[in-house]
Amino acid sequence: MDEYSDTLDFPLEEFDRLLSLSKALVLDRYSNLNGNAYPGHSQQQVYNWFDEPLPEDGTDIDSLLGEVKTKVMDTPTMNIGPHMYAYVMAGGNQVSIAADLLAAAVNQNVAKWHLAPALTEIENRVIQWASEFIGYGDGNDTGGAIVSAGSAANLTGLTVARNIYFEQAGIREHGLFGQKPFVVYASDQTHSSVDKSIQMLGIGNRHYRKIPVNRNYQIDMDALKHSIESDITDGLQPFCVIGNAGTVNTGAVDPLNELADLAEKYKIWFHVDGCYGALVASLPEFAETFAGLDRANSIACDFHKWLYQTFEIGCTLVRSWDQLKRTYHNNADYLASSQHNDNRLDINEHHFQLSRNAKAFKVWMSFKAFGSERLRNMIRNDIALRVYLDELLENSTDFELVSHNELAISCFRFLGSHRHSDEQTRLLNEEIIPALEQDQRVFITGTRLQGEPVIRACIINHRKDKSHIDYLVTVIREVGLKVEAQLNLE
Ligand SMILES: Cc1ncc(COP(=O)(O)O)c(C=O)c1O
Repeated sequence: MDEYSDTLDFPLEEFDRLLSLSKALVLDRYSNLNGNAYPGHSQQQVYNWFDEPLPEDGTDIDSLLGEVKTKVMDTPTMNIGPHMYAYVMAGGNQVSIAADLLAAAVNQNVAKWHLAPALTEIENRVIQWASEFIGYGDGNDTGGAIVSAGSAANLTGLTVARNIYFEQAGIREHGLFGQKPFVVYASDQTHSSVDKSIQMLGIGNRHYRKIPVNRNYQIDMDALKHSIESDITDGLQPFCVIGNAGTVNTGAVDPLNELADLAEKYKIWFHVDGCYGALVASLPEFAETFAGLDRANSIACDFHKWLYQTFEIGCTLVRSWDQLKRTYHNNADYLASSQHNDNRLDINEHHFQLSRNAKAFKVWMSFKAFGSERLRNMIRNDIALRVYLDELLENSTDFELVSHNELAISCFRFLGSHRHSDEQTRLLNEEIIPALEQDQRVFITGTRLQGEPVIRACIINHRKDKSHIDYLVTVIREVGLKVEAQLNLE
């Protein structure tokens, strides 16, 4: 072969075969979503599959895809199936899968408008639509950043908060040096990505107040006010209050209007972590629950949760693009804005990342393919299934529902075949989680509420129906009884 004539491209027919074989793997996977939720291979086993030297020579497509089938496509933890209840794992949707493929094929870099004209405008449109969907803005001038996930969405919101709030003090020039310590407030149920953000932004854990919650796991407003006042007395600067639009533990929504009032009173930034629940604000019947969301200065959302997108896609919404620009923009000769005076949006000037893929494309395609009402109905369905699960648990004698919320997370305990001491119930519910993983049929994890272990079911998957919820309860009961017997509980 001529020294300079090689390319990584295949002839078109071979590319076609690569795509066809890949498509066959996808269809094979989607023809079987109902099997066990967890593959159950040991870590050593999976390590061994991939423990090989860096390949010097290439493998032919057929054997490569054969390996992909056995080691990857046939072995996933089934986020995409109906038996997933752990963490916040929405199953994705098929339009997103196609969109990811198409976006990868045109491989646009959504850093500057002229690098990705259509996909930049699509990203802007998705931000306006998302804003309209949850009732944040009128759908025309909200600023936003499409980011990797909810954690990045919180970090982005809090970065904008810090840089805009301390803009006059020249924070981008001086950093935090010379600033009186400033304080962030949020309920003790707030997601750990906020802790990470607080540390990364140089604010420090000592300036992050975790405010206790009421019995519905919502922030205690009196404790919050007291904490702000006492910081002021101590010479600190209250800077930002974070409201939860759905906590990760129980789905609790903080009183957002009250938080907005308080933020106004103390002239502090109001950020909402809506990664779990903000998209539920799209349902008119939840207007009261989410009242005040529209008053936030910034909102973190997650589209790979309640918009059923494939991983990864999160989004931060703020009041204007200008706030993002004032937070992030730096001049660089090689990136200078084009001289066109025609409203080109160069997203790199409004965001930390320079090179970026076209994540928003799958949201755009999903909104167009399904329409908002269909997506709202899927969310409604998840919530209805949580209600159904709660009823099953409350009508049983061997389960105890521990948290009550309006969204779609149930926290509960298995009580066993007969009454146990508190200590024994605690042990049973700690041991049941690894036992359920070992059982493999459903995938569910736990958390702690008021220090006590609970089983936590997060229902966020458009492929579930009541029969799956019945199955969940049956499996937990069966595994729970085995654990009870193994532990020899009296
Ligand atoms: C309330 C809340 N905030 C933030 C996050 C972090 O989101 P991600 O996992 O997409 O980074 C989660 C994840 O479950 C969450 O529930």
